[in-house]
Amino acid sequence: MDMDTPVGANALDAEKIVGKPLDRVDGRLKVTGGARYAYEMQQDVLYGFVVEASIAKGRITAIDTYAAEQSPGVKLILTHRNAPRQGNGNHREAHPVLTGPLVSHYGEPVACVIAETFEQARAAALLLKVEYDREKGHYSLAHHLDLARIPHQPDGAPADSEIGGFPGAYADAPIQIDVTYRTPLQSHAMMEPHATLAVWDGDNLTLHTANQMLNQGRQVVARTLDIPVEKVRLVSPFIGGGFGGKLWVNADAILAAIASRYLKRPVKVALTRQQIFHVTTHRSDTIQRIRLATGSDGLIVAIGHDVFSGNLPGEQVYEAAALQTRSLYAGPNRQTRHRLVPLDIPVASSMRAPGESVGLLALECAMDELANKLKLDPIELRIRNEPAEDPEKRIPYSSRHLVACMHEGARRFGWDRRNATPGQVPDGRWLVGMGMSAASRGNPLRFSKAIVRLDPSGSAWVRMAMTDIGTGTYTILTQIAAEMLGLPIDRVRVELGDTLFPEAAGSGGSFGAASAGSALFEACEALRKKLADSVGMDAGTAKFIDGHIVTGERAVSLLELVGDGVEADGEIKPGRNNREFSQQSYGAHFAEVGVDRDTGEVRLRRMLGVFAAGRVLNAKTARSQAIGGMVFGVGAALHEDLVLDPRFGYFVNHDLAEYHVPVHADIPASLDAVFISELDQHSNPLKSKGIGELGICGAGAAIANAVFNACGARVRHYPITLDKVLAALPKQA
Ligand code: MOS
Repeated sequence: MDMDTPVGANALDAEKIVGKPLDRVDGRLKVTGGARYAYEMQQDVLYGFVVEASIAKGRITAIDTYAAEQSPGVKLILTHRNAPRQGNGNHREAHPVLTGPLVSHYGEPVACVIAETFEQARAAALLLKVEYDREKGHYSLAHHLDLARIPHQPDGAPADSEIGGFPGAYADAPIQIDVTYRTPLQSHAMMEPHATLAVWDGDNLTLHTANQMLNQGRQVVARTLDIPVEKVRLVSPFIGGGFGGKLWVNADAILAAIASRYLKRPVKVALTRQQIFHVTTHRSDTIQRIRLATGSDGLIVAIGHDVFSGNLPGEQVYEAAALQTRSLYAGPNRQTRHRLVPLDIPVASSMRAPGESVGLLALECAMDELANKLKLDPIELRIRNEPAEDPEKRIPYSSRHLVACMHEGARRFGWDRRNATPGQVPDGRWLVGMGMSAASRGNPLRFSKAIVRLDPSGSAWVRMAMTDIGTGTYTILTQIAAEMLGLPIDRVRVELGDTLFPEAAGSGGSFGAASAGSALFEACEALRKKLADSVGMDAGTAKFIDGHIVTGERAVSLLELVGDGVEADGEIKPGRNNREFSQQSYGAHFAEVGVDRDTGEVRLRRMLGVFAAGRVLNAKTARSQAIGGMVFGVGAALHEDLVLDPRFGYFVNHDLAEYHVPVHADIPASLDAVFISELDQHSNPLKSKGIGELGICGAGAAIANAVFNACGARVRHYPITLDKVLAALPKQA
């Protein structure tokens, strides 16, 4: 089905199972160790250990493998001298490894040692001697803005947008804000390190690998190894988080595949935690200039957002931090621009809510600065600038409940107790403040297929090459099938994570649940029709209840209909609704912080997110997603900072001891997320919108605004650490 028409009433509207806060169907497997992750797959395997380049740019002049070759258990040392020719492309197209003597970034694999055990491979890897000719590279975004160019991302939004006459309107307006925010390099820091087990059977390759989008990953592997895509199978039933770091294919998968083919044995390659930081992707840092102009009434007349981010030469992915600025607020004169600086550091790619996540750290603080200047409540400022339609696409919103989220959040959080003047609420040595922010995240839909089968036993199974990265996909798909087929959830088995199953979108960009769920919805509709037709009932009016198909007084047990089993498939693809409606999920964050007046330490005290994202498919997993996103936002505001050494082009703090993410002690018990009820009639048959990334959007800005309200320090360079707070404190405080 195309998403071409608004969605009418359908079988999900009963919400007997869908929407309920059900426990994860895979929860028991996970907590008992029964869920097997890529590295845990057991075979008669050899182990590979990656050797990273110790320079950021230059050329390998010699590799001495002699000592490593003599080391116990070593089977093979892969370097550029013996690696096969591979297909090329940007990181979304191919991932060739060991392609030649040139080194393009620090930590790029220069060898892989394969041995009988992991320890033997690692010990031998330490014996490898690699010599380099070092070249001077460009590493720091801030130092090389002069190299910026206009990125061209064929499948992405245009880099620039221009509506009306921004420069003149901005210059002529009585109230202006012109501020520059900086966000740091960030690393995904998911729990499960990247790992792959490669197994060849003739010229068929199976990769057990931690990957978010199996069908795309399969294409990348096939192109890299120059083999037909049908010969590649990716298997990934359980993934220990990804946040974008496993969207594409990383070196572990390709090295394992190449080594396994040479040695004719299964080969497992896992990255150590420290290796992940340079061998895989990260989020670029950004420099963002926001310009806002209003009349004294607070109505925006000009809104501008310029963004710089960096990536390896040849890569087109940029941090689309101004995307939400194109749709969030009204205003007749608008300008957004993205510029990309080529840098000789590892590939920058998507990290949770690429774009909005860091874009809102700038825009939503600039809005707070504007409210302060206008002496307007920040919520009132946003309400005054609520658009009637998408101000750049000039099309209606599919649904938009930002104002309702702000009102509901203000009521629940006690926003009316906020003192608008900074530094007025002491609590011992602490200064206490409140801040808020809007949340907005695009709602994409991606092509997906599903197959559903009703067995003679009366149980159903579902198969698709979808993934569950910890979000709850198994559970919500189980709920959808159970609701539509009138079965209890323990009679539905969902099997995911294998490219032998029908193609699916995978987990990314907040499109997973909507895309996979809609394909399953269509498959269940087709199965319902087959079953109804077989007993002469009208599929449109028949109800599926308690294992029966029911019309009026007549009820037929599904057991009588299934015979040897009945199956149906379904698919979804984006259609007119994606072009004719501006689709975003929305929300509002509220934060209360204490700032130590002497040390500048910031402690989060309370936080609340109120979200509107269409139908909630499972109240428990949705809340967990939102809370997880908010905690991610706490990290973005206060902790996360991947520190680049601008002399040598490497990340200094490449481990979880020094790359700080929030820990339990950073998160107060009073952090909650609620969803207001909403059905989106234009998003997809589920009437849902994506929620995987909404929670992070704006969360950090609410904290930054609370810091300002607490103590008057406006820190525009994230993360907001004590040194920056102290430097920004108004003198009298
Ligand atoms: Mo998300 S950054 O598309 O995993």
